[in-house]
Amino acid sequence: MPRFDIPALLADLTVAERSSLVSGQGFWWTRRIERVGLPSIMVSDGPHGLRKQERNTDHVGVGGSVPATCFPTASALASSWDVDLVRRVGAAIGEEARAQGVAVVLGPGINIKRSPLCGRNFEYLSEDPVVAGVLGSAMVDGIQSQGVGASLKHYAANNQETDRLRVSADVDIRPLREIYLAGFERVVRDTQPWTVMCSYNRINGVYASQDPWLLTEVLRGEWGFDGLVVSDWGAVDDPVAAVAAGLDLEMPSTGGASAARVTAAVEAGDLPEAVLDTAVERLIALIERALPGVEAEDDVDLDAHHQLAREVARDCVVLLKNEADLLPLAPIGRLAVIGELARTPRFQGAGSSKVKPTRVDDALTALRAAVGDDATVSFAAGYGVDDPGADVAALRAEAVAVAGDADTAVVFLGLPPSYESEGYDRTHIDLPAEQVALLEAVAEVNDRVVVVLANGSVVALAGWEHHAGALVEGWLGGQAGGGAIVDVLLGVANPSGRLAETIPKRLADTPAYLDFPGEDRHVRYGEGLFVGYRHHDAVDLDVSYPFGHGLSYTTFELTDLDVTVLDDGVGGAEAGWRGRDRIEVGVTVTNTGSRAGKEVVQVYVGAPEASVQRPVRELRAFAKVDLGPGASERVVLRLDERDLSYWSTRADGWVLEPGEFEVAVGRSSRDLPLRATVRVDGPPLALPLDRSSTLAEWFEHPVGHEVLVEALRRSPGGDLRPMLDDPAQRRMLGSFPMPRLATMLGPAVGDDLVDGMLAEVAGR
Ligand code: BGC
Repeated sequence: MPRFDIPALLADLTVAERSSLVSGQGFWWTRRIERVGLPSIMVSDGPHGLRKQERNTDHVGVGGSVPATCFPTASALASSWDVDLVRRVGAAIGEEARAQGVAVVLGPGINIKRSPLCGRNFEYLSEDPVVAGVLGSAMVDGIQSQGVGASLKHYAANNQETDRLRVSADVDIRPLREIYLAGFERVVRDTQPWTVMCSYNRINGVYASQDPWLLTEVLRGEWGFDGLVVSDWGAVDDPVAAVAAGLDLEMPSTGGASAARVTAAVEAGDLPEAVLDTAVERLIALIERALPGVEAEDDVDLDAHHQLAREVARDCVVLLKNEADLLPLAPIGRLAVIGELARTPRFQGAGSSKVKPTRVDDALTALRAAVGDDATVSFAAGYGVDDPGADVAALRAEAVAVAGDADTAVVFLGLPPSYESEGYDRTHIDLPAEQVALLEAVAEVNDRVVVVLANGSVVALAGWEHHAGALVEGWLGGQAGGGAIVDVLLGVANPSGRLAETIPKRLADTPAYLDFPGEDRHVRYGEGLFVGYRHHDAVDLDVSYPFGHGLSYTTFELTDLDVTVLDDGVGGAEAGWRGRDRIEVGVTVTNTGSRAGKEVVQVYVGAPEASVQRPVRELRAFAKVDLGPGASERVVLRLDERDLSYWSTRADGWVLEPGEFEVAVGRSSRDLPLRATVRVDGPPLALPLDRSSTLAEWFEHPVGHEVLVEALRRSPGGDLRPMLDDPAQRRMLGSFPMPRLATMLGPAVGDDLVDGMLAEVAGR
């Protein structure tokens, strides 16, 4: 039984009251209207833990918040490639939100990591839209399973922090659709988040908060979004234009200024009242949806959530290299732990996502507790973290002495907090020089060096990784990350993380290098589709570690690839938004080692015969499998029409071009032992013809071709077909728009004729 009679409420509320509802109350609340019994609801950050602020309100993480479980940040979570795990994290965050009376959690953030320099990459999942979309859906699903809403952000093309409130992401429609919108589309269509948060930036010149194409045509019209669109905090430039474009709630409060402008616009007839009412309706519907959760009185088992945070963090760790099986460490002998980050962990990033953790585990304490009396664990800080006063030489000398006295040195390195944050981008991808110098000095006195990294976005490894026999990417592992790292180091947990972003050899190798962060309020996405591994693979560049890479303490084998083209998949409306399933991929995964472990099967697809430029291969499906020693499992994944299609600007839609597709299966974009080529048939491409279509385009069109040939045969000046029998001639004239040929071929292909031919094509 709904609590609110929305039509009656709308009729009862004055224009001024309705206008007041489309902007917030304070930082975190929607507006309350007591007169009609409409309560406010509270929203709070964030993506990897709840940041509910009570006092000292701000939106950039300066003020304090209520303690909550801090889970690994998005770069770490994505490295798990584990849908169930991410869903469990979402559910735990949702549960904490519900217990705190928070109606909507402001996350997940699923923007594509266009450049490793983006200051907020720690909050984002991947350079690949399938990973970002699938795991983003899992997070939304988890949060919303608790009767709390999610806010999918930042919609869209918010891929940098530099000038983020004004910059125009100038991006062609095809990469926009295939790379930057694809993840949002998947989450919206599959999981229906209660809210979507529009981004600060402009896209091709238009503010996301005021873009009717983005907020209404695509999001609601095409994808069927039925929730509420909220602005990022302070993203609205013109509140009337925002409501007109489809924004339902401007945050935070503007102290009545926006409401006054919206009221005036409605009264002047510049904003249709019905448009305002639609936004208000959506707000009331959100409140209706949220109230049962807000009113529930729950207790959260924070100890259990801390345990979950540790379990999750373990599965996010990526073992990048492990020479001579240096890891796992035997918990005996003399271990040296080097690096301040082992004692003072960096486990999350700065800005609006910053959670006040319920407790924090550091690796040093966790390691000492784990090895007990079986090993001695000595420690030296080695460097200071964001500490200009540190005596670098003395710290290094102490660390060298400690390392020289140990069987194995575990060196904790990483980015200091000042290196990456919401609000600004990085200018390089290097570790602090004193950390690299420390590693070199340690490696001179100890030849068993393990490096453990703490960083939210990738760091360059190429200059120093030869000093480390083993390399563990721990990301920003959340409040239990220290313990999780120890679980991995000692083999209590078998690492199973895989890179959700490429680690390049050099910043200069990355695709947006020359086009980031732009200038004069514009950033041009010149690399087009070729983001992340799509670029590195297209130009065959060496990378430090490829997308998808990650080692285990066991070994896996992939065998018996079976790729079947499906002709009888579900068709028509039942096929869903992604179209019919077209290819089935089966592969057997076997754990060939002696420990239980998890493998991530990755399926990539290429379209070598495509008539448009396409990446060499693109991830289209993946699955994580958990196998005991010696165990096998058959993994079957399906690829649908969307997986094979590209966005055609000419057709203004997704197009599946029949032809050959290469299916490659393996464990990274560069390690694909199993491959098959299949033919997917379908009607020949029929991209729309218009008056500017060229001779070549007419020839390529299945119907246009016939119409053209007939028209040439009937030409009043005699049959013109022989002239085009010569392939060289046809090629030379191919780029001429049809009416322009009139000047060369006489009236035979003049304007009237072209119009007639177009009508004929349309009629067949
Ligand atoms: C951030 C959002 C965040 C909001 C509220 C903004 O500055 O971009 O991600 O949800 O603040 O804190």
